Parts: sequence; structure tokens; C-alpha cells
Amino acid sequence: MFTPEIDATASPESSYSPLNAQLASLLSGERDLICNAAQLSAFIMQTVPDLNWAGFYFARGEELVLGPYVGNVACTRIPFGRGVCGKAASTQDVQRVDDVHAFDGHIACDAASASELVIPIVVAGKLVAVFDIDSPNVARFSDVDQAGLMAFVSTFVDATDLTWSI
Ligand code: SME
Repeated sequence: MFTPEIDATASPESSYSPLNAQLASLLSGERDLICNAAQLSAFIMQTVPDLNWAGFYFARGEELVLGPYVGNVACTRIPFGRGVCGKAASTQDVQRVDDVHAFDGHIACDAASASELVIPIVVAGKLVAVFDIDSPNVARFSDVDQAGLMAFVSTFVDATDLTWSI
């Protein structure tokens, strides 16, 4: 059984790197997209404090469709350009929103969400998915959290066969 180790005394700066090594070990030897997407979502919810939702939306045409996640039930389809996830999809840029209630067009899947980080996954210039992370705390995500969570997503991309999703 793989149990991620969390050092509760570590600063955020020093905690993401060892966690990323554990994530690489967790995903090693498995290239299946659904399997690794589910594991990444659970790993983040298990190791990063103060989150209420983490998971995938996959690009299907000009829409995002809900994929593996951990959290409350969520909207199934989001058009590119709508909400925080849709903006990440249409711009292919990371979206970090300190207060989702002040974000024009935010889609409130879970009323508890207060801040959000959405990381687009782009392969050869084409959007494959976005990885969405929500927190019940306003301004939960710092530069350090963004860099650490982007490194987790990068580890997932390296470990996973993304070809059938494109
Ligand atoms: N809040 C997101 C929708 C997805 S849920 O948070 C899981 C958005 O505005 O795109």
C-alpha cells in the first residue's frame, strides 16, 4: 500500500519537492490515462491541505468534459471560454483566482469553493485537459503552491500515455 508521507512541519517551499518524488514513484510503471488521472487527483487531496476539489476536465471539441476527480459532484460540460476552467482552456494559460466570487463568469459547482487554480495540459500545441484545484480558503494558492502543483501535473504528463485523449 502506498501511503504518501506528509511532513506537517515543512514549509510549502520545501514540501512540494519530496511529494513530487513520491508522486513519480506512485505513477511509475503505469501509463494508463484514467488510472493516473484518478491517482493524481487523490494524491493531491491527500497531501495538500485546505482543498475541497481536485480533478480533470478533458478537451472534447470546443468543450471540457468532466474526468476523474476527488470532491463533490461537479458540472459535466464547460464550453471553452466559460468560467475559470474554460478560460484556462481557451487561453492555454494557468488561471489562479484568489476569490472566485469576484471572477466574472465563475461556475459555482461547489458553493464551498473560494479560490481556484486551473492548470492547462497542452501537448504539441493542442489542449488535452485542464487540471482544476479548488479551496474553501480565499487566496489559498501562492506562487510556491502554483509552482509545486504545476510540477505535479508535469510529473503526471511525463508518466502517462495521453495519445488517446487527443
Ligand atoms: N469553478 C469552475 C468549474 C469547475 S468546478 O470548480 C469543479 C469554473 O469556474 O470553471
